[in-house]
Amino acid sequence: MIILIGGEKGGSGKSCLAQNLAVYLQQQERDILLLDADPQGTTTDWVREREENEDLSNIPSVQASGNIRQVLLDLSKRYQDIVIDAGGQDSEALRSAMTIATHMLLPFRPKRRDLKTLVHVEELIRLAKAVNPQLITNAVITQCPALPSQAQRIWDAKEACESFYLKPLAQYTTNRNVYDDADENGLSVFEISSDTKAKAEIEQIAIEFLGELK
Ligand SMILES: Nc1ncnc2c1ncn2[C@@H]1O[C@H](COP(=O)(O)OP(=O)(O)O)[C@@H](O)[C@H]1O
Ligand SMILES: [Mg+2]
Repeated sequence: MIILIGGEKGGSGKSCLAQNLAVYLQQQERDILLLDADPQGTTTDWVREREENEDLSNIPSVQASGNIRQVLLDLSKRYQDIVIDAGGQDSEALRSAMTIATHMLLPFRPKRRDLKTLVHVEELIRLAKAVNPQLITNAVITQCPALPSQAQRIWDAKEACESFYLKPLAQYTTNRNVYDDADENGLSVFEISSDTKAKAEIEQIAIEFLGELK
């Protein structure tokens, strides 16, 4: 699988999802590579942090930018799965990866300024599917309020995605400190025992998005 985590908006949780999905897949005994296509290098920094802690598994990673189609073709011969952190804007890396990815996940916070980007995202996906009709695309709503009284915000965000023909996963992530705490220390939510709910969210997202792994 070539799994692309992309979108238009910074801070929506792309790097966080790419990192946690990479650890999830590795724990499922998949031979994975994490590819950081964001010039900001957030995921590369995370991998470095991780390398300093010998209790943690090594996550193979590379950085790449520009047209990464050929890079991905080559790497896909060596790894079972590649998880790509595409970074925060429409880029050549994002567009070229979309032509060859098997899966694309687009995180959106339930906020107007994230959902406003759906117009452009729909256009991008349409272009990608013209050359890569197999591409599985889903939205995931992230950093959702935990309060039941604010659940309407989550439903509205899902509805907004649907209105742009982008299917939202039923599972969303809730705003939890553990995501941020893990992130800062080169960890995933699977390696922090204090909050098992975040772990369950990521697991459910993976199963829904990628299906049961053989
Ligand atoms: N569900 C969540 N709850 C709380 N914080 C989150 C959640 N998802 C991501 N974050 C945090 O929000 C910040 C931005 O996320 P990040 O993955 O870096 O976004 P992006 O890569 O899209 O710019 C990070 O500090 C991250 O740890
Ligand atoms: Mg990022």
